Amino acid sequence: MLERVKKLIEEVNSFNSTNVDEIETFRIKFLGSKGLLKELFAEFKNVPNEQKKEFGQTINTLKKLAEDKVSSLKETIENSKEEKGIYGDLTRPSELIDLGSRHPISIVKNKIIDVFNRIGFTISEGPEIEDDWHNFTALNLPEYHPARDMQDTFFINENLDTLLRTHTSSVQVRHMENNQPPIRTISPGRVFRNEDISARAHCIFHQVEGLYIDTDVSFADLKQTLLYFTKEMFGKSKIRLRPSYFPFTEPSAEVDIYWGLETETDYKITKGTGWLEIMGCGMVDPNVLKNCNIDPEKYSGYAFGMGIERIAMLLYQIPDIRMFYENDVRFLKQFKSVI
Ligand code: DAH
Repeated sequence: MLERVKKLIEEVNSFNSTNVDEIETFRIKFLGSKGLLKELFAEFKNVPNEQKKEFGQTINTLKKLAEDKVSSLKETIENSKEEKGIYGDLTRPSELIDLGSRHPISIVKNKIIDVFNRIGFTISEGPEIEDDWHNFTALNLPEYHPARDMQDTFFINENLDTLLRTHTSSVQVRHMENNQPPIRTISPGRVFRNEDISARAHCIFHQVEGLYIDTDVSFADLKQTLLYFTKEMFGKSKIRLRPSYFPFTEPSAEVDIYWGLETETDYKITKGTGWLEIMGCGMVDPNVLKNCNIDPEKYSGYAFGMGIERIAMLLYQIPDIRMFYENDVRFLKQFKSVI
């Protein structure tokens, strides 16, 4: 019996490991509730009296050695962790940093800006809180003009003369008031309308306004510029201009692009016609030029206005305008690869 205990002492002394599981198996084997020491202590009563003293001392030694072994091996593991310092294992692959991405509205806005920059248009901006003059009156929409009904407005005072701009056309007024022709500018920005929110409409959205004023600007110039834009933006080279009405342009037109009828979606979004309306445009009404201190006898010009959401929905086949404002990361993530 004593011999067996001495063998076990040798086993404990020679045990070595840096593996947590191995050390735990060793602990259970010797010190566990059903372990060898438990067994040996139970044997104690069967040991002849004259051997009891030596046997008792030896199993106590075994117990102490086993306990010390377990704690010293555990300590060695802990120390080696600390030695790696706060950086841990420097050869480990780094954790991925999730990069943010631009919002699709910003991507499309930047694309539009880029296309017009290339043909000499500058950028101009104006305030989102506007006065009646710049949003309506100067644009040939005097008070009580029925065309004001076209845009349900968020007025922000009781006199109804301060409001959240309903379109970026207000910026063309500001720009003309402060600059003389030649003028070539686009004005991107946020606009507000008191509309019910649905898949196709929202009370906050974005527009880009375009304005070109110089001597001898014609409707043909307008059409060529828009054709260039649709080619660059959508890769589509067929457009048509349908007569329309805007108080600030005369004549006015609605611009359609030929989208095609190749897929089922094309049928759906063009209602089976292949044509899609993308913006309004026209020759700046001489009254508007006059209101902005530009001589209509000397100068003429064109203007156009488009909704950025609409363009983005077409480019990326987004079915619901509300997706732009929900900030659902699963939606936004999809635009990561687009700069
Ligand atoms: N301001 C118009 C709107 O919000 C868009 C527009 C149409 C702007 C024709 C223009 C234009 O400059 O010529 O619906």
